[in-house]
Amino acid sequence: MEFSDIDQYRQRIERATTQINRSLATVPEILLVLGSGLGSLADQVENAVALAYSEIDGFPRATAPGHSGELILGYWQDRQVAVMKGRFHAYEGHPTADLVLPIRVMQKLGVPGLVLTNAAGGMDPAFTPGDLMLIRDHIGLWADSPLKGLNLDEFGPRFPDQTMVYDRELGDLALRCAQELAITLHEGIYAYCGGPQYETPAEIRLLRMLGVSAVGMSTVQEAIAATHGGMRTLAISCITNFAAGIQGQPLNHQDVLKVGASAENKIIQLLSRIFARMPDLRG
Ligand code: HPA
Repeated sequence: MEFSDIDQYRQRIERATTQINRSLATVPEILLVLGSGLGSLADQVENAVALAYSEIDGFPRATAPGHSGELILGYWQDRQVAVMKGRFHAYEGHPTADLVLPIRVMQKLGVPGLVLTNAAGGMDPAFTPGDLMLIRDHIGLWADSPLKGLNLDEFGPRFPDQTMVYDRELGDLALRCAQELAITLHEGIYAYCGGPQYETPAEIRLLRMLGVSAVGMSTVQEAIAATHGGMRTLAISCITNFAAGIQGQPLNHQDVLKVGASAENKIIQLLSRIFARMPDLRG
């Protein structure tokens, strides 16, 4: 972020926070971000108040197909939630700071938990499209940092620690819940690639050498901003396709959406158990 923009950015956070706060009696416990093809969970939110991103003063605008762009406030599994149906991606042309503006708004409101979902390409030989993967760590070296520019001291320190971006206790809980439900939940490292083009087979071979299991075009910036602001983060990928070159077939967005939609019930089932069992994050 340019030096001159930081006051404007703070004001946008402030305006969005004020507006969202008008629809809230109490502070949500969890922000849940729904990835490509995973949007139908939003229909299950009870006492829902939906705000289109385009109506939220200060918010960026979503453009990607499969991302309709709504913030839904309400309850799911008896937890007070804010659900992002659609997120902001760098490949849409948004400045990096904008990708995490909703995260900042939630931090401003005092929301303690973040659950991220996404669609990702799988390169681990054990993965099949339709499988789920718990993100234990990430490689975001090719992502512009959402913390670049003057530090927002009110959220966190200039040089935040990244040894535990993804909450271990919540991750372990996710694995236990998956086991009880007999749902395959792999664990692995997610690598960010900016897109919008899919990766080349050579890029995927490189990432595989680095120990990466899944690749996608989101999540990392949000998780960084979450640790900076002290939120506890759980992240789950839906493996929608074999990453480029793994099986030799070309990739396309329609297949990604289709596999995402077919795995949706599974991820909803898993998340509902996790939400039912989660410790009180406000505690
Ligand atoms: N690469 C990057 N992002 C993705 C993929 C992929 O193979 N599948 C779904 N999102």
